[in-house]
Amino acid sequence: MSGVHGDRILVTGALGQIGTDLVQALRREHGIDSVIASDIRESDGHSSIEEGPYVPLDVMDTDAISAICKREGIGTVYHLAALLSATGERNPDKCRRINVGGTISVLEAARECFLRVYAPSSIAVFGPDAPKNPPQDAPLNPTTVYGETKVSGEALAREYRRSHGVDTRGIRYPGLISYNAPAGGGTTDYAVEIFHAALDSGHYECFVRADTRLPMLYMDDAIEATLTLMDAEDDLLGDSRAGYNIPCLSFSAEELANAISDRVEGFTCDFVPDVRQEYADSWPDSIDGTVAEREWGWSPRFDLESMVDEMLRGISGS
Ligand code: NAD
Ligand code: SER
Repeated sequence: MSGVHGDRILVTGALGQIGTDLVQALRREHGIDSVIASDIRESDGHSSIEEGPYVPLDVMDTDAISAICKREGIGTVYHLAALLSATGERNPDKCRRINVGGTISVLEAARECFLRVYAPSSIAVFGPDAPKNPPQDAPLNPTTVYGETKVSGEALAREYRRSHGVDTRGIRYPGLISYNAPAGGGTTDYAVEIFHAALDSGHYECFVRADTRLPMLYMDDAIEATLTLMDAEDDLLGDSRAGYNIPCLSFSAEELANAISDRVEGFTCDFVPDVRQEYADSWPDSIDGTVAEREWGWSPRFDLESMVDEMLRGISGS
């Protein structure tokens, strides 16, 4: 990509589950004033996001994105604004508009303003025909609208790189587990909610079956993977750069509940599946992240036990 771009960072969807942690990590690395957080929502006034610059921004508005990028000297966009699977399946048209339309807006602004773009994909790109531990190049035939938007996002990122030289990168995140912000309306939200319920009331009614096994990751590892990918030399990255499978944890809902009840006396969990079971059943149990490991050398630090310890410590503030 030729042209001039700035050295500041814009994060879209920054008030969400990932943005809340990613903005903090980026500000630690680059300095508070170098990272501009944005979201369509007003901040609630308690968010750590307000330690630094914040602008309201609807990612459907390409002109507004370009104007902010020019005015603020932005060189890199972390594009997190999206609807997640459960919310997206309830509002399929809106999900397509925000997830695909928003990504086009960001990529158009990137083309105009010479930006680098990080746009996350998801394990939801896989459908029921994928192996239970899909390799990087497994078929992408999702049965959810959300998954379709993530397949489109990867295709758009490849297209803008090929046709316009935009430096685009992405990871197929698994379910992410964290405590600084609530999970944002996805199928894997049970793996976050269960911790709060365990400490608040000692009981959780889980909306997937006990034997539901999905790829998962503790947020610190997901942030570390994101920063490692964005720091990687361009020529190390191959054809998977728009959506890498990464090495993940894989555990069932029951194994998670058991790990919590080993630590929270009296904790009980019932399993009462709802429609989100269908989405979980269409996704893999785990994913094969060997291409990411080989190309940019990353692997997670947290296993199930250490992740559960960290979550309980973080939520209880100890
Ligand atoms: P989230 O729902 O917690 O946050 C998304 C944010 O986007 C929200 O704060 C919302 O207000 C904002 N937003 C929605 N519409 C917008 C618009 N039109 N303009 C600007 N902002 C808008 O989501 P998250 O968990 O932080 O996910 C971020 C990205 O990572 C998404 O692309 C998601 O698909 C992907 N992802 C997340 C997970 C996970 O487990 N959290 C897993 C796989 C992929
Ligand atoms: N955690 C996300 C969801 O459940 C996966 O992309 O929607």
